[in-house]
Formats: sequence, structure tokens, C-alpha cells
Amino acid sequence: MNSTGSVLKYQLKSFENLPIKIWDDPKQASKHIADSISLAIRQKQQEGEKIVLGLATGSSPIQVYSELVRMHKEEGLSFKNVITFNLDEYYPMHPDAQQSYVRFMNEYLFDHIDIPKENINIPDGTIEMDKISEYCEAYDKKIERLGGIDIQLLGIGRTGHIGFNEPGSWETSPTRLVRLDAITRRDAIKDFQFEEKVPYRAITMGIKTILNAKSIFMMVWGSHKAEILKNAVEGSVSADVPATFLQKHPNTKVYVDQSAVSALTRFSTPWLVGMCNWDEDLVCKAVVWLSLKIGKPILKLTDEDYT
Ligand code: F6R
Repeated sequence: MNSTGSVLKYQLKSFENLPIKIWDDPKQASKHIADSISLAIRQKQQEGEKIVLGLATGSSPIQVYSELVRMHKEEGLSFKNVITFNLDEYYPMHPDAQQSYVRFMNEYLFDHIDIPKENINIPDGTIEMDKISEYCEAYDKKIERLGGIDIQLLGIGRTGHIGFNEPGSWETSPTRLVRLDAITRRDAIKDFQFEEKVPYRAITMGIKTILNAKSIFMMVWGSHKAEILKNAVEGSVSADVPATFLQKHPNTKVYVDQSAVSALTRFSTPWLVGMCNWDEDLVCKAVVWLSLKIGKPILKLTDEDYT
């Protein structure tokens, strides 16, 4: 209580510009996302309508897909009213190739559910070069004609890419052919064995296409994503980190696991946020941080520095 008798409230300063939901592990979080998707599918079914899903590949959505498959097999969730658009595909890439996103989607989702084949849309990695812009325009138009994407799933690359919108991608970018960042190509070596085999290009939905989705779930799992998560949710909106454009979207939720949050200000330097439970470890961490921050040896720190 202060002298006027009112309860003093700590003013917590938030550094985060996107709503973050922290889960113990990706499995729990993925189950929650799958629940939201199945609820939306069922609601549309009751209204006799179709639902448009934007889908991602990579490791992040795998557990969402396995939960959706389980719901189909054990709970009778039907995908007959679902239309899907995948975010991206390597270019060039044959759909039968081991690393194609067509193959990935079949393996983790489409082969196990009752979605009509004609409702599946994945950028075509075999399209001739001189037909690509026409093809990409048609991809965006088709999404638009169907009333837009209802739910978009996203992962985030270590460059801050969403889809394959690498740093430098502009906010109004449509679906198009892009060059992959060197870091993204290096991260893909695990799938292609040798760096020389990783394609230099990809077809990706644009930032504009993604931002037009009505609702977006971004999944961020693992400590290797901690730094980019911080940049995406705390950094200012900039093409340098394309995921920051999500800060402009009215209905994006970021699902993260415990190991991805370590670099967020509220966990890495909680004293900047306003309130923390001081213990010996935290005091040591804060003192070392202050000393590095202002470039003074610990023993020379003054009261003024601490304040
Ligand atoms: C994949 C895609 C990419 C991935 C991102 C994260 O369709 O669009 O943006 O979501 O590279 O990949 P993972 O999930 O493997 O860490």
C-alpha cells in the first residue's frame, strides 16, 4: 500500500508485438492447433460450406498433421469440405522426388484423410520458367476466388522467412519465384544430403497472400529458433525479418514451446520487463548483464548504474 492507501501496481512493460502462447512441448501445442482446425472444419460443415486451409511443410507442422489424421481415423473428422493451398515448393522439383513438398504432404497428411484430390493445391515445381509468373498469379487468384484462406499454418526459418519469403521480401509481395537464402539452403542439406543438390529457388506464396489469411497460427519449436523468435515478435516491422510483417495481422497467434522462448526479453532479462522474483542466480545474471551492457567491470558499478 502507498501513502494514499491504494495498492501499488507494477507496470509491466511488454516488448512483444505478437500474442505468444507458451506450451510445455510441441505435442501439446500441436494438439491445441489441430483442435482449433477441426472445430473450424466442423463449423463450416454444419453451415454446408467449404473451408480453405493454408498449409506449411517442414518439421514444425508434422504433429498437427498427425493429430488431424488421428481425428479423422478415430473421431470421424471428415476433410471432404476442405480446400488446401500449400505455402511453397522448391524449384525446380518433380512431385515424385524424395524432397518434394507434394510427397511430404501426401506422406504426412493427404494419403491418410478423405480430402478430394482436386481440393489440394501445391505450387508446381515443374512449371516452365516462362510460365511461372502467369502460374503464380493464377494461384493467388484461385485463393481469392474461394474467399481467401481461413486458417494459415506457418513455421519460421532461421532467416525469419515465412513461406520462402526471405529477408528483403516486401509486404505486398504476391506468390512468385524467389531465390533461397544461403542459410535456408544450408538448413535444407539434411533433406538433400549435399549442398549442391539443394535448389537455389522456390515458388512461394507472397507476404501479401499470407497476410490476407483470416487467421494465422505460427509454430516455433526448439532452442535453435529462440533468436529469430525474439526478432520476429520484438523487432520493428521490416523486410529484414519477413516474419515481423505478421505484427500487422489482426489475428495471428504464435505457438511456442519452452525451449524457443529463452531469448525473449521477459525470460532473458526479466528486470527490463518490470517485475521479477530475485534470487541469487538472477542477481548474478543481472549484474553481469549490466556490466557488459555499459562496458564497466563489475566492481566499478555504482548505485547510479544499478538504478
Ligand atoms: C515450409 C515453409 C518454411 C518452413 C520454415 C521452418 O513450407 O514455408 O517457411 O516453415 O523453414 O521449417 P521447419 O519447420 O522445418 O523448422
